[in-house]
Amino acid sequence: AFGDHVSIVVFGASGDLAKKKTFPALFGLYNQGLLPKNVNIIGYARSELSNEELRERIKSFLKFKDDAAKLKADGFLQLISYISGPYDKPDGYHKLEEAISKYDQENKVQQSERLFYLALPPSVFTTAGKNIKEHCYPEGARLRLIVEKPFGHDLESSRQLQKDLAPLFSEEELYRIDHYLGKEMVKNLFVLRFGNAMLSGVWNNRHISSVQISFKEAFGTEGRGGYFDDIGIVRDVMQNHLLQVLTLLTMDRPVSFDPEAVRDEKVKALKAFSIDNDNILIGQYGKSEDGTKPGYLDDDTVKKDSKCVTYAAMGININNERWDGVPFVLRAGKALDESKVEIRIQFKQVAKGIFKEIQRNELVIRIQPNEAVYMKINSKIPGISTETSLTELDLTYSSRYSKDFWIPEAYEALIRDCFLGNHANFVRDDELDVSWQLFTPLLQYIEGEDRPELEIYPYGSKSPKSLKKFLIKNGYVFDHEGAYQWPLTTPS
Ligand code: BG6
Repeated sequence: AFGDHVSIVVFGASGDLAKKKTFPALFGLYNQGLLPKNVNIIGYARSELSNEELRERIKSFLKFKDDAAKLKADGFLQLISYISGPYDKPDGYHKLEEAISKYDQENKVQQSERLFYLALPPSVFTTAGKNIKEHCYPEGARLRLIVEKPFGHDLESSRQLQKDLAPLFSEEELYRIDHYLGKEMVKNLFVLRFGNAMLSGVWNNRHISSVQISFKEAFGTEGRGGYFDDIGIVRDVMQNHLLQVLTLLTMDRPVSFDPEAVRDEKVKALKAFSIDNDNILIGQYGKSEDGTKPGYLDDDTVKKDSKCVTYAAMGININNERWDGVPFVLRAGKALDESKVEIRIQFKQVAKGIFKEIQRNELVIRIQPNEAVYMKINSKIPGISTETSLTELDLTYSSRYSKDFWIPEAYEALIRDCFLGNHANFVRDDELDVSWQLFTPLLQYIEGEDRPELEIYPYGSKSPKSLKKFLIKNGYVFDHEGAYQWPLTTPS
């Protein structure tokens, strides 16, 4: 782990990611007393800003749980200074090196420790990396570098990026963030699966009939159209976030918690995944039914006739002994009726015989909002009735844990892991490569000449109309529709 004095340099300090995620996460850790004892935080970007101006900008994005946190904000902001400079010339990097070594000298630091957080577009990753290596990495120093997706656009560009970074930094020094790996419920998958004999025993094709991982957002790409248009939903959240969730959900038990043991198992699972190009549904949102919300193409920053995919559902097969024959569906969409990310595992039908009608068990793991795990089970209706009804074993975090419980934000958890030198929740190079091997043919198909038709769905709808048919085709059984409703209000 890093020691008591760490310099943290946030590149792209005036950009969106830094303001919305990186600085607030550093503040969250500061507030919990989880930063290294002494930190020297430096923001770096091209814009000319004073220290005070950067602090003001950051302040407006900090979230305060209570008054105590608000009081701490000033202390935190005072730890931050700003240096402006270009990404592709040495000038700014010299200033940066000066500031870090001055801090180290003043604090009599024996071994300089540095965390560089590149909140930058990938087009400047390599240039910034080269300059950091050359000008801000003196002999004997310890350095860690956090980078964020997109890690390439396809297999080829991803490999190129790896090739460019590899001579500069070792895999040990690189931390590739997929922020879904920092989410509380995603981390819990490990414990739920491997810490409960009751679940691990049925975690296979003998008991599970189908699995869905679903990502819904209630907003479109407003304001981000320019970025999104070349990316699409598959690259934006499926090739990375949802695939990570699927991997953790289906991998075998690692031999230990050791980061490499975990990542070895993940890669092994990933290698057994396959996507069938014929088993995919793609869509793009149009105007909302009442006309108040814009369609994707109404955004001035996207191409007029853009075929950008804002909704996709795809079937994935896992070709190994545990999962052979179980249909998995990943689905993700923008501009839908709600924001929700969940995993839905449907179990096989019990033998009918004694029951005329009995529904299937489902285990639902809700990643967000309001973390919850619930199992739909059949139970006798209390009283003299002998009828069964579907009810739930329910672990809703907000009712099970007290309000003061701190659930770290994904970025808080991950930056902390980086201080500790724990790579388990970061993406390894070979893992990244396999994920692009899996998705590149699919992307070529849906972006090529013979692409399947884009289904237009209204902004704010539940899903494209043909989703239901798609899910049925992929093994999901809608039994007794409407018979079961998750309580609308959470119990107090
Ligand atoms: C990002 C995508 O990686 O993940 C965004 O670029 C998406 O388009 C976001 O909205 C979702 O993350 P979260 O944490 O809000 O679910």
